[in-house]
Amino acid sequence: MAKRLFIALELPETCRKTLSALNPNLKGLRWLPEHQLHVTLSFIGEVDPTKEELLRAALGKVRIPEFFLPIQGIGTFGRAWPTVVWAGLGNAHPHLFVLHRRVQDAVLRAGLEPDLKPFHPHITLARATNLSSAALLPFLRRYAEVELGLWKVIGFAMFSSLLSRDGPRYTLEMRQEFRD
Ligand code: 2AM
Repeated sequence: MAKRLFIALELPETCRKTLSALNPNLKGLRWLPEHQLHVTLSFIGEVDPTKEELLRAALGKVRIPEFFLPIQGIGTFGRAWPTVVWAGLGNAHPHLFVLHRRVQDAVLRAGLEPDLKPFHPHITLARATNLSSAALLPFLRRYAEVELGLWKVIGFAMFSSLLSRDGPRYTLEMRQEFRD
């Protein structure tokens, strides 16, 4: 059966807890459950079992040096009417962009089409509907530049996503660590 797959960085529990606790509880803002917080590296979409095997093999060869990644600042996608509230990764780290390239290469090598939009690494914290940027402004001002954590990226993961009325359900499909 085909699975809806994406590749992401997992966050340590301490970072997830910090980010969850920021929820300003505003009407129209749906904060994501703590266990769903991640950094998407590549969204692939529906993948059949044969291609999934090729993908697992290609991803299994991706290795880069471990690196530290900061979580810094809160921002939005969408200006007057934001759709997403995210936590930023500061200036990220060059290794993050190398990792993104290697993952995209692996997806292509498996004969799949990765999302080729420019990579804007972020952690989606919440999705907004009918919430004006003015209503969000005090929250954004408070956290615009704040450092929210730092973690060591030792690998990445592949998840499947099952869509349901209560939102997506993610299942860990594969974990690839850089060190053997
Ligand atoms: P985002 O939340 O950071 O935007 C799993 O669905 C993840 O894949 C989401 O967290 C989403 O990242 C990302 N994604 C990217 N493009 C997507 C698409 N077309 N449909 C669903 N998810 C997508």
